[in-house]
Amino acid sequence: MKQEPSKVKAKHSIRALALAPVVLALGACVSGGPSGSDHVPVAGGKSGEAVYQQVCRACHETGVAKAPKFGDREAWEGLIEEGQDVLTAHAWVGVRGMPPRGGDPSLTLAEFSRATAFMARAAGGDWRDPDTRMLERIRHEEKKRLKEIEKKK
Ligand code: HEC
Repeated sequence: MKQEPSKVKAKHSIRALALAPVVLALGACVSGGPSGSDHVPVAGGKSGEAVYQQVCRACHETGVAKAPKFGDREAWEGLIEEGQDVLTAHAWVGVRGMPPRGGDPSLTLAEFSRATAFMARAAGGDWRDPDTRMLERIRHEEKKRLKEIEKKK
């Protein structure tokens, strides 16, 4: 059977159109993944290392009041598993011997998050300095945490 050339063409272009959304969706997945190239860390303020040295180190270097020690993979493993948004929010709000914002109210959330990511990396985590999307997720977890604390009162 012979097909008319015009028909063949039409068939091909329809197939190409049908595939387009799939290709686009795949592209979005790849660029949105954890190793995506669209990660743009929030700019401004101190680096995670600087904040660690100035604020967090006082307790986290030696493990004051059972603070998870810097570079102690065992101590950090379970914490890292909680996820960057959840753990950063909980520490930011404060938990037991961990004072809110590490005891320095002048820190911005971006600075505090960088310091947390810096400590997580030192213990084997692959956390990056936060981008705006991560900061939004941390803010969301912060709200949830504050509500929980409010309920317990
Ligand atoms: C005054 C001492 C102190 C300082 C300063 C301090 N921490 Fe902590 N931190 C603690 C203690 C104690 C814990 C353990 C809390 C617990 O689980 O009982 C802790 C726990 C944490 C955790 C784990 C939280 C969790 O949910 O278990 C993170 C993350 C953290 N600190 C980050 C920081 C960062 C970032 C800084 C600096 C900006 C900082 N800490 C400064 C005492 C401190």
